[in-house]
Amino acid sequence: MSRNRFDSKVCLVTGAGAGIGRATALAFAREGATIVVAELNPDAGKTTLDEVLALGGKGLFVPVDIAHQEQVEHMVSVAVATFGRLDCAVNSAGIAGTVSQPTHEYPEADWLLMLSVNLTGTWYCMKAQLTQMLKQGGGTIVNIASAAGLRGQPENVPYAASKHGVVGLTRTAAIEYATKNIRINALCPTAIETPMLMEGRRKLAYNPEAREKAINYQAMKRMGQPGEVADVALWLCSGESSFMTGHALPVDGGAFA
Ligand SMILES: NC(=O)c1ccc[n+]([C@@H]2O[C@H](COP(=O)([O-])OP(=O)(O)OC[C@H]3O[C@@H](n4cnc5c(N)ncnc54)[C@H](O)[C@@H]3O)[C@@H](O)[C@H]2O)c1
Repeated sequence: MSRNRFDSKVCLVTGAGAGIGRATALAFAREGATIVVAELNPDAGKTTLDEVLALGGKGLFVPVDIAHQEQVEHMVSVAVATFGRLDCAVNSAGIAGTVSQPTHEYPEADWLLMLSVNLTGTWYCMKAQLTQMLKQGGGTIVNIASAAGLRGQPENVPYAASKHGVVGLTRTAAIEYATKNIRINALCPTAIETPMLMEGRRKLAYNPEAREKAINYQAMKRMGQPGEVADVALWLCSGESSFMTGHALPVDGGAFA
C-alpha cells in the first residue's frame, strides 16, 4: 500500500548516510517528503540523496558534524532557506566507539568524543530544530537513543551514559514544548543490522559468537532491520501518533518483554 503521510512536509535526518538514518530518509522519500540528508561522510550523504532522488523525491545534502554547534545551526538554516520550513527531524547520527573497557579503565578521550557527538550533538540539533519549529508553530522530533539509554551496556559506559542522556533530553523537552504543538520522542532499539553493529566496535560481521549473542538478545531471535526502526520513527513523526510525546520507546523484537 503506498501512503503519502509526508506530502509537502520537510523532513531532516541526521546520520542519513548509513544504517537507521539512511533507511529513515528513504522511508520519508517513499511517502512524499522533501528530505534534508544531513551527514558527516560526504560520499555516504550524497549517495543517500541520489537514492532519494531516484525514488522521485526532492531533497538536499548538507554536510554536518553534529558535535559542532555552528555546523548544526548552518544545517537547519540551509534547510529552511531552501525549503521554507522544517516539519520533522529524526536525529540518528551517533557513534558507539571502538573501545571495550570497564568503567574504571575507559579512556577519557573516547568518553569525551562519544559524549560530544551522541549527547551534546543531539542537544545542538534539538536547539536549532526547536527554534525553527517554535517560529513556524509546530513540528515533530524523534531522537534515536538506544536500549542502552534504558539499561547499562557493559564495557561501553560513555555509550550508555550518552544514550541515557538523550532519553533525559527527550523527556524534558517533550514537557517543555507539549503545549507548543511540538512532539518529541526517542526510540530505543536493541540490535539492528547496520554498519555500526556489523563493522563497528563489536564487529558482528566477523565474529559469529558475538553475532549469535546479539541475535539471542531479542525474543524474536533475530536482529532488527534499519527499516523496522525507520517505520516507527515515521509513525512518531506522523499525525497517527498525535497524543504521543516524551516516550523512550524500545524497538526490540521483544527483548524488554
Ligand atoms: N545499530 C544498532 O544496533 C543500534 C541500536 C541502538 C541504537 N542505535 C543508534 O542508532 C543511531 C544510528 O545508528 P546506526 O546503527 O544506523 O549507525 P551507522 O554507523 O550505521 O550510521 C550512522 C551514520 O551517522 C553518521 N555520523 C556519525 N557521526 C556523525 C556526526 N558527528 N555528525 C553527523 N553524522 C555522523 C555516520 O557517518 C553514519 O553515516 C545511532 O545514534 C546509534 O547509536 C543503533
